[in-house]
Amino acid sequence: MAVRINPSILAADFVNLERDIGRVENADFVHVDVMDNHFVPNLTFGPQMVGRIQEVSAVPLDVHLMIEDPARWAPGYAELGAASVTFHAEATLDPVAVARRLRSMGARAGVALKPGTAAEPFLEILGEFDQVLVMTVEPGFGGQSFLQHTMPKLRALREAVDRSGLDVWLEVDGGIDRRTIEIAAEHGADTFVAGSAVYRSGDPAAEIEALRAAATAHSHSRPGPGGGGRGWIDQ
Ligand code: DX5
Ligand code: ZN
Repeated sequence: MAVRINPSILAADFVNLERDIGRVENADFVHVDVMDNHFVPNLTFGPQMVGRIQEVSAVPLDVHLMIEDPARWAPGYAELGAASVTFHAEATLDPVAVARRLRSMGARAGVALKPGTAAEPFLEILGEFDQVLVMTVEPGFGGQSFLQHTMPKLRALREAVDRSGLDVWLEVDGGIDRRTIEIAAEHGADTFVAGSAVYRSGDPAAEIEALRAAATAHSHSRPGPGGGGRGWIDQ
């Protein structure tokens, strides 16, 4: 299974963003946390900043919207050219409509679930999304500890994705480091956001490769016709 490592620039130096984005050019996507001080008690970037980040980044953007009213605001980020736009399920009554609009604009559409939000309503409509983001901390701040109790939800999503045969990416975000990435990979994640682990290390590019190696080594693999899968089954 392909593994993607998406460093979060929430942990970068905001007055040296272009430099810090340049330090992670071996990443698969650059993760951009948009917070509106309403959906979460923190404030980061809006469309103008994300537009500039898009212009200077050699790596495609994975935009994570922690904002209210994504039906109104999410399409603007697709219009800026973000490769993926992920909004929170808790912030809209009609996630399918938001996702369809994002896709119609050429972006990958993602839905994010806070730690306390169940995956069940989404298991039957996975085909409406390109990715599902399982928050492994409460959204709002970097540097928090990984919440292991979100892993059964991730596993349920992995089983549903594999059953469906759909190519839906399963992303984890929050408290991901060399240790916790193994746990998330074993429970079925294939896309990993890491802020502090990457930017607090002395060498962000090398840390990305270390995370990639750890995730690959512990990656869930789909059981073949003869069985033989491992990974998401607890040993
Ligand atoms: C938290 C953000 C995360 C954050 C992760 O609300 O969505 O993307 O940057 O930071 P770390 O990796 O430090 O937990
Ligand atoms: Zn995020």
